[in-house]
Amino acid sequence: MSNNSIVDLGQQHIINNYGRFPISLVKGKGTYVWDADNKQYLDFVSGIAACSLGHCNEKLVQVVEEQAKTLWHVSNLYWIQPQVELAEKLAMITGLDKVFFCNSGTEANEAAIKLARKYFYRQNKSKKYEIISFSNSFHGRTLAALSATGQTKYQEGFAPMPAGFVYARYNDISSVEAAITENTAAIMVEIIQGEGGVLPAELSFLRGLRKICDREDLLLIVDEVQTGVGRTGKFLACQLYDIKADIVTLAKGLGGGIPIGATLATEKVASGFQPGDHAATFGGNPLSTAVASKTVEIISEASFLKQVEKMGEYLSEKLLGLKDPRIVHFRARGLMQGLEFDREVKGLVSICIKKGLLLVNAGPKVLRFVPPLTVNEVEINGAIAILEQALKEWED
Ligand SMILES: Cc1ncc(COP(=O)(O)O)c(C=O)c1O
Repeated sequence: MSNNSIVDLGQQHIINNYGRFPISLVKGKGTYVWDADNKQYLDFVSGIAACSLGHCNEKLVQVVEEQAKTLWHVSNLYWIQPQVELAEKLAMITGLDKVFFCNSGTEANEAAIKLARKYFYRQNKSKKYEIISFSNSFHGRTLAALSATGQTKYQEGFAPMPAGFVYARYNDISSVEAAITENTAAIMVEIIQGEGGVLPAELSFLRGLRKICDREDLLLIVDEVQTGVGRTGKFLACQLYDIKADIVTLAKGLGGGIPIGATLATEKVASGFQPGDHAATFGGNPLSTAVASKTVEIISEASFLKQVEKMGEYLSEKLLGLKDPRIVHFRARGLMQGLEFDREVKGLVSICIKKGLLLVNAGPKVLRFVPPLTVNEVEINGAIAILEQALKEWED
């Protein structure tokens, strides 16, 4: 099928809730993908920071093949070997003791919210149910995660939002102090606001949150759905700031492109959940956890993370070298980078796609760079060359 025929068929039968570009990607290898008309693209989106080891990574393909021949799915009525092995790896790397597995970032955050509430409920503190999250945050599209998301544009038309969420200002510790009441259970924060525009938290702000949580008996929930699993050059972005969370959520890059989410917690907090309290039929199934386990094994190697840092610096250097008066800010941590313009970047993204470079915006004015963590200098040079050309053609 051609691009056009796939797009036509999709428009007839797929619910129209995504703003899609008019191409269909049918094949991928490393940092490259091809569309149905066999046009090649450099992929600096990587499935929105999900294909952490690039497309069709050989080691992951091997795991998929072996697991596909062995066992796909049995449910959590039974113990699953790849699941417990992945949980052990995550515990060793992150210092958090226990894991609940699900299938996406929003589900990981739903579990975190429920766990925080149940943790206090079990201590006869059921008054403590409220979550403080932040302006401009993004935590997912299911109703509780959406309620935690501090951007009204995503909530419009879905009222009533689940109660128990209040918003403070990002990087403003006094606004957090002002939001605390006897009902507060937890603070939920992204170390770098991804969808909000690649906006990193300040060190003093994160340290302040930890102090407040200790002082007020609150849980610190860190949403690392986008920043986690090597994206910033550390396995967790928490480790960049030396911040200890009570609950960390992961998804996106964890499965190297296979759907999986995880909610990690300390032993004490994890005890909030008892059998029957929460569940997901497909959560942590043999296929997804086998692939995630290999992904985690590869990414957690010190030499791999060093290379992410190195390629991050290389990409930053190139992006900072771009001369365009419309660029107003640049922010980067590892291979999560954002170039902010003084206007909306949608048109620029479309030009880049036509020229063979996939990029995605983060908020209306920020061009986001989240290539596979395996990206190399040649591919970065290729992307920059296309972007330079696209900037020349981009008219207001
Ligand atoms: C920080 C953060 N949390 C949660 C989510 C939701 O993840 P998912 O789309 O897998 O539900 C996202 C997705 O962009 C995210 O960036």
